[in-house]
Amino acid sequence: MLLCVGGGIAAYKSCEVARLCGKAGAELRVALTPAAQRFVTALTFQALTGRAASTDLFDAQQELAAGHIALADWAEVAVVAPATADLLARLRAGSADDVVTATLLAVDPSRWLLAPAMNERMWGSPATVENVRVLRERGARLVGPATGEMAERSHTGPGRMSEPPEIVEAIAAALAPRDLAGVPVLVTAGPTREALDPVRFLSNPSSGRMGFALAEAARDRGAQVTLIAGPTEVAPPAGVRCVRIVSAQEMQEAIDDALDGARAVVMAAAVSDQRPAQAAPQKVKKKEGEEVLRLVRTPDILAGLGARYAAGARRPVLVGFAAETEKVEEHAREKLEKKNLDLIVANDVSARDTGFGSGTNRVVVLDRDGGRAELSGSKLAVAHAIWDRVRDRLR
Ligand code: CTP
Repeated sequence: MLLCVGGGIAAYKSCEVARLCGKAGAELRVALTPAAQRFVTALTFQALTGRAASTDLFDAQQELAAGHIALADWAEVAVVAPATADLLARLRAGSADDVVTATLLAVDPSRWLLAPAMNERMWGSPATVENVRVLRERGARLVGPATGEMAERSHTGPGRMSEPPEIVEAIAAALAPRDLAGVPVLVTAGPTREALDPVRFLSNPSSGRMGFALAEAARDRGAQVTLIAGPTEVAPPAGVRCVRIVSAQEMQEAIDDALDGARAVVMAAAVSDQRPAQAAPQKVKKKEGEEVLRLVRTPDILAGLGARYAAGARRPVLVGFAAETEKVEEHAREKLEKKNLDLIVANDVSARDTGFGSGTNRVVVLDRDGGRAELSGSKLAVAHAIWDRVRDRLR
């Protein structure tokens, strides 16, 4: 990806955009307008990306190393952050008077992602409104601007550049293939809670992150996503229909309600296998000595789906997760067969850099035809690799 930095105070946030993109595995080059270089230096981006940034259209050395047309051909996505009012005007006009505009003029606008940043009155001015409208019509995508406090503290309104994580998310969305366009899918995420009494429950440390990444990746690929999620600290992704549930029983009911027409069901939720035989209506008081808690099984939702769609022509692709601490693949393969699934994602939850609460994951995906693949990376990258496999099975 090409990151084009414009000359606004928000340019300091673009350093963080570069850092996050590098961390997510992007191959990144940076170009700065002359005005941008008055806010941040090319050296900052060189240190963050390990590559010299382009700063001068007329620098013979730079043109030799990475000519602006070669840069335009190379970039899968060109992110403009901050996209200042002046830069938007020049992009609309087709200027090519610095390395950023000259490069972007050779990139199709459908590959532009603009992150506007300016004072709220500049954003609302008729000239900017028209420039943005025309750029959108040509296919450019926008992220933000956000509403909030401006650099001039006395001003608030729309015009703040979106925060770096939001820009990175928009970049991922811009890069995703649209191979699930219109496909209804169901994703579950997070833990369930099984009440003992009004203030206590049985649960597990699932953060919901893996399921949310799956929902986000499917959304970016154009799917119609229904996300059924247990209680989580992390917010679910925007742009999906999210149904909140608490217990395994509620999850079962929410799935039954949403199942009709779904082409794939991905059960990333860590559903409790047991619940207390009785949930006390009032807070239970402690007793002397040992206490025994009687547990009963919750419905095995996924096994139920596997049985229901045993041989049906309209069977959705069923994907399970196997959270294991030992004999990971062996146990996962057993679950794949027993629950009659298409794919199972085996997850070693005892490892430190994977599993519960972590931002990254390392999994093995097994399919019903004996296929096996090892996947690792950010949860979003792993999610995309899982959808690649679901898409293949949908065909
Ligand atoms: N699952 C489910 N309903 C349950 C329990 C689990 O639908 N009551 C789903 C999970 O969402 C997951 C898969 O089944 O996709 C496997 O979950 P896991 O907890 O690893 O396996 P279990 O079948 O519960 O087996 P065990 O606890 O014995 O390992």
